[in-house]
Amino acid sequence: MKTTAQFLKMKEQGEKIVMITAYDYPGAKFSEAAGVDMILVGDSLGMVVLGYESTMRVTVDDMIHHSKAVRRGAPDTFIVVDMPFGSYHGDVNETLKTAVQMMQLTNANALKVEGADDVIPVIKKLTDAGIPVVAHLGLLPQSAGVLGGYKVQGKTSEQAEKLINDALLVEQAGACAVVLECIPHQLTEIVSEKLTIPTIGIGAGAKADGQVLVFHDLLQYGNHHIPKFVESFAHVGDEVERGIITYTQAVKAGTFPTLQQSFTMKEDELIELYG
Ligand code: KIV
Ligand code: NA
Repeated sequence: MKTTAQFLKMKEQGEKIVMITAYDYPGAKFSEAAGVDMILVGDSLGMVVLGYESTMRVTVDDMIHHSKAVRRGAPDTFIVVDMPFGSYHGDVNETLKTAVQMMQLTNANALKVEGADDVIPVIKKLTDAGIPVVAHLGLLPQSAGVLGGYKVQGKTSEQAEKLINDALLVEQAGACAVVLECIPHQLTEIVSEKLTIPTIGIGAGAKADGQVLVFHDLLQYGNHHIPKFVESFAHVGDEVERGIITYTQAVKAGTFPTLQQSFTMKEDELIELYG
């Protein structure tokens, strides 16, 4: 399993960091086998797996439940778990308790929190307690209501300046990496140059130190909205659809199961059974 020190080194040496989200045992297993550097149990869970319209309804218990499965599927991969909406904006000591519980129950390697401002003391508190923290700047899905939707962030020089400053602040507070979501690629380049810790981009162009995509987006698995910045590397949903339709037709038509998928009793046992 890679360490935060190795991620720093990868940045130094210009080796890209690959991150993918996962929410269950098979997804984690495939990801670890593929050799990804980090897995994120994202609260995108709410949308792509649980069918909610936003990440707002995801709970700490949801995150723990899914993260445990991910850890079982990827015992040797660095796992980051999202702290969900509302779980880190109250009293900072309460937040630490929640964070410790999440770390202990899931055996994760780091937690992720969105934003700067009020979240800076949270990053510091958790880091001081020994919990590696990944920061998240730019588009903050947990604040989509306040931001007025899922829009590109940091397009004006004023917004960009604030983001650069926030990035420096999360680094100072102890963050071990920072996710940059939906910002112009030029801004990603500036932030990545200014920071020592790695930047992990999503919708942030090629100049981030690493990339992250949502499992169901990059594999086209599920029929949710696919954002502009996603490349579909496979079409798993088409296969799933085809498989289930074919199965349904086979059962209806009586072509499944055949003898080949059946268990057979010996002839003499049968004779006895019928007398
Ligand atoms: O929840 C998530 O999947 C994320 C990534 C989009 C970075 O936070
Ligand atoms: Na998230």
